[in-house]
Amino acid sequence: MPARVPIEMSTQTSRQRPDPWPATRLAEIDEDAVRLLVHTFYGRIRDDDMLGPVFRQALEGRWDIHLEKMVAFWSSIVLGAKRYRGNVTQAHQPFGHLSGEHFSRWLALFFDTLDGLFEPQAAFAFAEPAIRIAESLQLNLFGWEYALPPAQRALLDSVKQARHARPHE
Ligand code: HEM
Repeated sequence: MPARVPIEMSTQTSRQRPDPWPATRLAEIDEDAVRLLVHTFYGRIRDDDMLGPVFRQALEGRWDIHLEKMVAFWSSIVLGAKRYRGNVTQAHQPFGHLSGEHFSRWLALFFDTLDGLFEPQAAFAFAEPAIRIAESLQLNLFGWEYALPPAQRALLDSVKQARHARPHE
């Protein structure tokens, strides 16, 4: 069995878990599963004390478009759907005033949502690209000298370990 997606960073988020999570975690990823992830995750983002105001301000009146775009994005990454057309780095240029803590929070919520919805192997398919893209966005926003906060470093390391623990790799 592969290692569980690490959720050490998510301990403070457990009280906000949507109730109820699905009775059984999903083992297979299809478009419906991607949609469930995106809607659950951004529901939590919207209600989050740290990230809610950032997203609500940026996306007022445009949430539906954003959610559809994010379903296309994750479907392209995880299902090879090739539907996403956009520039992720450019879309985050306005957020240079944020900090690594914002990204840590984003990742904590994302990983906790993955853990609530998916079996480890399916969760991993989202977790690895998420942490890598988050790292690249931060380097672009904060400069190449920027060092990832320790919590994210640990997350990156555990994702690497989980990859090595996968039986077929
Ligand atoms: C603190 C962390 C983050 C914040 C505050 C943030 C915020 C946002 C906001 C407000 C938008 C909408 C931009 C607009 O349409 O005007 C957006 C778009 C997007 N975000 Fe993030 N984001 C964060 C992290 C991430 C991460 C880690 C990923 C990927 C794993 C990601 C992937 C995307 C994608 C794919 C889009 C759509 C870009 C496009 O318009 O084509 N974001 N983000």
